[in-house]
Amino acid sequence: MRIAMIGSGYVGLVSGACFADFGHEVCCVDKDPSKIEALNRGEIPIFEPGLDDLVANNVREGRLTFTTNLPDAVRNAEAVFIAVGTPSRRGDGHADLSYVYQAARDIAGAISGYTVVVTKSTVPVGTGDEVERIIRETRPDADFSVVSNPEFLREGAAITDFKRPDRIVIGTDEVRAQNVMNEVYRPLYLNQSPVLAMSRRTAELTKYAANAFLATKITFINEIADLCEQVGANVQDVARGIGLDNRIGAKFLNAGPGYGGSCFPKDTLALIKTAQDYEAPIRIVETVAAVNSQRKRAMGRKVIAACGGSVRDKTIAVLGLTFKPNTDDMRDAPSLDIITALQDAGARVRAYDPEGMEAASSMLTNVEYAKDAYDCVRGADALVIVTEWDMFRALDLKRLKAALAEPVVVDLRNVYRPEEMDRNGFTYVSIGRV
Ligand SMILES: NC(=O)c1ccc[n+]([C@@H]2O[C@H](COP(=O)([O-])OP(=O)(O)OC[C@H]3O[C@@H](n4cnc5c(N)ncnc54)[C@H](O)[C@@H]3O)[C@@H](O)[C@H]2O)c1
Repeated sequence: MRIAMIGSGYVGLVSGACFADFGHEVCCVDKDPSKIEALNRGEIPIFEPGLDDLVANNVREGRLTFTTNLPDAVRNAEAVFIAVGTPSRRGDGHADLSYVYQAARDIAGAISGYTVVVTKSTVPVGTGDEVERIIRETRPDADFSVVSNPEFLREGAAITDFKRPDRIVIGTDEVRAQNVMNEVYRPLYLNQSPVLAMSRRTAELTKYAANAFLATKITFINEIADLCEQVGANVQDVARGIGLDNRIGAKFLNAGPGYGGSCFPKDTLALIKTAQDYEAPIRIVETVAAVNSQRKRAMGRKVIAACGGSVRDKTIAVLGLTFKPNTDDMRDAPSLDIITALQDAGARVRAYDPEGMEAASSMLTNVEYAKDAYDCVRGADALVIVTEWDMFRALDLKRLKAALAEPVVVDLRNVYRPEEMDRNGFTYVSIGRV
């Protein structure tokens, strides 16, 4: 198959490289020339484990190319994927669909022969109808179908997720389009990944329902953690105690500082807005979004309390900035709210993250960036672990204690054991454990 991927960000680049690895001929397009120039120089603009080798191999084999020239890529393609961003629209929280609609207009002008236009971006119910309308209006003569194929990959494990998905969702009522999609995903059928065929609108909603459910699960255990702290219970034991029940499942039950990232915050908001527009409000998700957004700043207050009630003129060391490990993505990361809360209370913040510092530096002000974990804690009045990168899981506790001015550790990911920290002389605060 010849595939054009419009948008070469976290989703477009991973999907494009994986499709090429399946044996398809893929051209990844982006309107950002610096991204395409970097890719053509062999540089990967994002951090995603394994992506550099995957891209290099497929470029070498001649199956993967990069361009800013959308018409050239689309003209030759049998399937054109839209993988552009759908951020929250400033002001009202609806999904901003301007990039998707612009891509649809650009694609319309270049379609030749029967083409399946596939929306991989996360888009509200009915977006496929509008993409179809735009293309039809621009090119009344074009022979095309519009399909929804939402993406469920996780940053940090994106390649495995793409190549071994729990399921593939394909939303179309057209047999012709379904056949093309079957061909695109044929290597995965052979791996026996379930392929779910459904209507386009159902596929669009399925993606939001999945993210809203996961966000709810995280928020549920976070509130249980708060209760654990008040009643003297241990949230990790509760999580295990409920997670082993197959009806519940153990994943997404790690209490922490609140969910962040490029998907859950914006997708829960967009679902809330869609549901309100259709007069079928989803009150659970409305509450989840409200609870989560308050939680991130509350984590700042937790640090302040651990420091004896004030952080004014104190130095707080922050380990981990990205919204989760193994990515450089800083979008809606809890660290942004936590650091701002600490700075508002008069603290100086020094931070270290193995991949996120470049992106963080354009989103935060007055943060000093360290060269490693021990450099970060040097002379600090407290350490806060915000993101559980593996390298923060086995810090040398003696060295840590010697480097800190005050042995205060606030572990927002529960990576250390309270007994061990007590034994080593730390004042240790974690989530949902006393
Ligand atoms: N990041 C994730 O983990 C993830 C997972 C599943 C689904 N999604 C969804 O996938 C979509 C893309 O997310 P992302 O994180 O890859 O975004 P991103 O911001 O990393 O990438 C989007 C890219 O599209 C490019 N672009 C925008 N308009 C364009 C146009 N008209 N022509 C060519 N290129 C254009 C941008 O320059 C950018 O490089 C979103 O809808 C998101 O919700 C993301």
